[in-house]
Amino acid sequence: MTATQGIVVRWTASPTADAAREAKLSSPGFGRYFTDHMITATWRTGRGWRDLAIGPLAPFSLQPAALVLHYAQTIFEGLKAYRHDDDSVWLFRPDVNARRFRTSARRLAMPELDETTFVESVAALVRADEPWVPQSTGERTLYLRPFMFATEPFLGYRPATDFRYSVIASPVGSFFADGVQGARLWVSDRFARAGRGGTGAIKCGGNYAAGLAAQKEAEEQGCQQVLHVDPTDGDTVAESGAANLFVVTADGLLVTPELGTILPGVTRDSVLALAAEHGLTAVERRVGLGELRTGCDSGEVVEMFSVGTAAVVTPVLAIQGADFSCRIGTGEPGERSLHIREHLLDIQYGRAADRYGWLHRVC
Ligand code: PLP
Ligand code: COI
Repeated sequence: MTATQGIVVRWTASPTADAAREAKLSSPGFGRYFTDHMITATWRTGRGWRDLAIGPLAPFSLQPAALVLHYAQTIFEGLKAYRHDDDSVWLFRPDVNARRFRTSARRLAMPELDETTFVESVAALVRADEPWVPQSTGERTLYLRPFMFATEPFLGYRPATDFRYSVIASPVGSFFADGVQGARLWVSDRFARAGRGGTGAIKCGGNYAAGLAAQKEAEEQGCQQVLHVDPTDGDTVAESGAANLFVVTADGLLVTPELGTILPGVTRDSVLALAAEHGLTAVERRVGLGELRTGCDSGEVVEMFSVGTAAVVTPVLAIQGADFSCRIGTGEPGERSLHIREHLLDIQYGRAADRYGWLHRVC
């Protein structure tokens, strides 16, 4: 037993052998493999947070009546650790994830975890499993998944009294099989993800469960992701199933849907900050699907891309619905999209100046 920054570590008795770990790191896919350790902590009404520690990766033991299994009181985050060429390891804007985790907790009537503990717990897990952070080639990183869920066994309907916080880590490559080749987005007219007063602006399991039928429909239609529209008017563009959306116009605007019912993405915020360096004027406003389709036809919309921790910056090549299909620009990944993508990755991997102080050194 040792401690990293005050967090006790109980080391696994059966660490993954070096050769087996290297095999996983060389071709990680996304979210398939997990490191040897995990963070856990518990919270109880009247007692607060307790027992924050690192231990071996292991299954949870849960009562069948645990509230999370019935009423989905669960939230999560996603962020990555990047290995730089000098072998140092860095997180990208973990403070923003920490703040969003608190916002998500408040919205689902869950206990808040202070931001320092969130960042320190993520960093401590990365330090404990440091050999699992891949080399930078091929967009590889260690993906961190902090999450919290209601463990109290109770079938009545109210917020739980007992919760567990955990962080697990997974070496990952590209989220999309075709990576930077680009994606087709499917607009469902049957399934909505979020609406006014709902939970679209936070990161909770329920949002993703609600999106799965549309995601299945998208894949059946030959698309990689869903483009969700606001169900109130069936026209306001929201976001994709796992990423925020941007449009580049012929007159140099970089337009993204305004916040409200969409996730305030860390990547979205970062891309907005970088726009001017790419000669683009960032605009956050309502974007209509009708307007988007017209813009594609007229040549006003020249590029489109989706952004997120998992998606990085992925060009969108076409959007498609039950009664329409439109190609974006030339139908090839756009030049501006690729430049913004490279710029962001260069900052994250320490190859470009971190002018905004976004990087947080872990080890
Ligand atoms: N929107 C949704 C629905 C997401 O799942 C994600 C991914 O986390 C994003 C947007 C992008 O957010 P971020 O850039 O913070 O990863
Ligand atoms: C992320 O980008 O971190 C996400 O949470 C998306 C998830 C569906 C992999």
